Amino acid sequence: MLINLEKHPDIIRKNVERCREKGILLPTFREMINPSLVSDEIKSKLRNVGLWDVNPANLYRITWHNEPKEKGGLFAGVNFIEIPREITGTKARILALAGKFFPCGVHKVGATYACLAPALVTGNFDASSQQAVWPSTGNYCRGGAYNSALLGCDSIAILPEDMSQERFNWLKTVAGEIIATPGCESNVKEIFDKCHELNEQRGNHIVIFNQFEQFENYLWHYEVTGAAILEVLKELGIKEENVRAYASSTGSGGTLAAGDHLKNVYPGIKIGAGEALQCPTLLRNGFGAHRIEGIGDKHVPWIHNVKNTDMVLSIDDQDCMDIYRLFNEEDGKEYLSSIGVSDKDIENLALFGISGIGNMLSAIKMAKFYEMDEDDVVFTILTDSSVMYTSRLKELEEQQGRFSKTEAAKVHAAALMHQGIDNALELGYYDRLRIHNLKYYTWVEQQGKTYEELNRQWYDRNYWKELPQLTEKIDALIDEFNAEIRK
Ligand SMILES: Cc1ncc(COP(=O)(O)O)c(C=O)c1O
Repeated sequence: MLINLEKHPDIIRKNVERCREKGILLPTFREMINPSLVSDEIKSKLRNVGLWDVNPANLYRITWHNEPKEKGGLFAGVNFIEIPREITGTKARILALAGKFFPCGVHKVGATYACLAPALVTGNFDASSQQAVWPSTGNYCRGGAYNSALLGCDSIAILPEDMSQERFNWLKTVAGEIIATPGCESNVKEIFDKCHELNEQRGNHIVIFNQFEQFENYLWHYEVTGAAILEVLKELGIKEENVRAYASSTGSGGTLAAGDHLKNVYPGIKIGAGEALQCPTLLRNGFGAHRIEGIGDKHVPWIHNVKNTDMVLSIDDQDCMDIYRLFNEEDGKEYLSSIGVSDKDIENLALFGISGIGNMLSAIKMAKFYEMDEDDVVFTILTDSSVMYTSRLKELEEQQGRFSKTEAAKVHAAALMHQGIDNALELGYYDRLRIHNLKYYTWVEQQGKTYEELNRQWYDRNYWKELPQLTEKIDALIDEFNAEIRK
């Protein structure tokens, strides 16, 4: 089975007791997809809880449906925006889910919960004696440390030393231990090495939740992110023929998995995987350092269903940094207002983190590449929001000078209106196979996966189909666990 659901009754009993003591109940996939199913008891608790509070009731806010309120919010429609054409410069409509309204401001809180919850309810993780280790280049360790705190267990966050100061500052408030590894965004090998070292030193005292290989991460996005997008498409009445593309960068390959769900419903949709042009692993088997925090780590994640990916979009990190300034500096916003971007749309610019800007650029490239028209739709994801990166504004000002209205006009023209179809590759069968084959070097040579399983990922048509069949099983285990807590 791709997800370990083998039960360990003694540890399950301990975990149940611990959750009972701390007043913790666990949401199911069903509830994350459709939070109207959440009980009134939980809802009344949430009325007094802030979105970022370390309170176990916030586990029920792991959904795209949170009311956008700092405190006391319940559930409403899916959080999404339509990015105006004055910004995208495309004929096609570009829609994006907004991750800002997850607890602690990042969608990764979902993927980490999906990794932790099955381990907790099956007893594959002992919350009272083991530490949960969250290796990450971006928000995964943020979500992981936060969820661990909600569930009252100890955590270790591992992330590269060059990640933004905001991340380190906040992590200090929730993580048991923080380990900074050498390098920047794309130095994942160093993170894996640190995991091996910890394994040798601490053995059974830790459980490593490795997002790049854990199918729970895939499954959360397949089910929860996928369902949220489908809901929006239905609500807006988009015709099947107009659901044209899904664009998502790949960090761990989790968010991309929503595309697999969409393709099951809309077989004509194209799935585009984004990465940084400065680290063009998918485009050119390349490597390098870049500034789009959270994505593109010089390898192909184990959970990336490469055979289902139709396009690679390599995005220049300078465009992302320039647009981040355009969206956040006063002169940038004033310029956008002067060319007709509405006040509401300007307010929405705060929903874009740097990788969200990269995703928007991937969506623009796909819309232009496939010559989409006014009724066509590309969906993408804003994984976190601008608040995560404000220190970068000061750094950019020091490096590049003040951001004036003239700069704003240049960035709008060059990085948005003239974003082209360069560094965009439509994948043929053997392009996909080339990318899939890259997994060998990371996963079989270095990380102990088998040659046989690598081949199954490519040749066995049922391999990826097994995953959504596990959702109900996991929900049943969570229901059982909650019932024990309530006894
Ligand atoms: C800011 C940000 N954007 C994008 C991603 C990529 O998402 P995924 O890991 O699901 O591919 C991450 C992952 O951590 C992230 O932190």
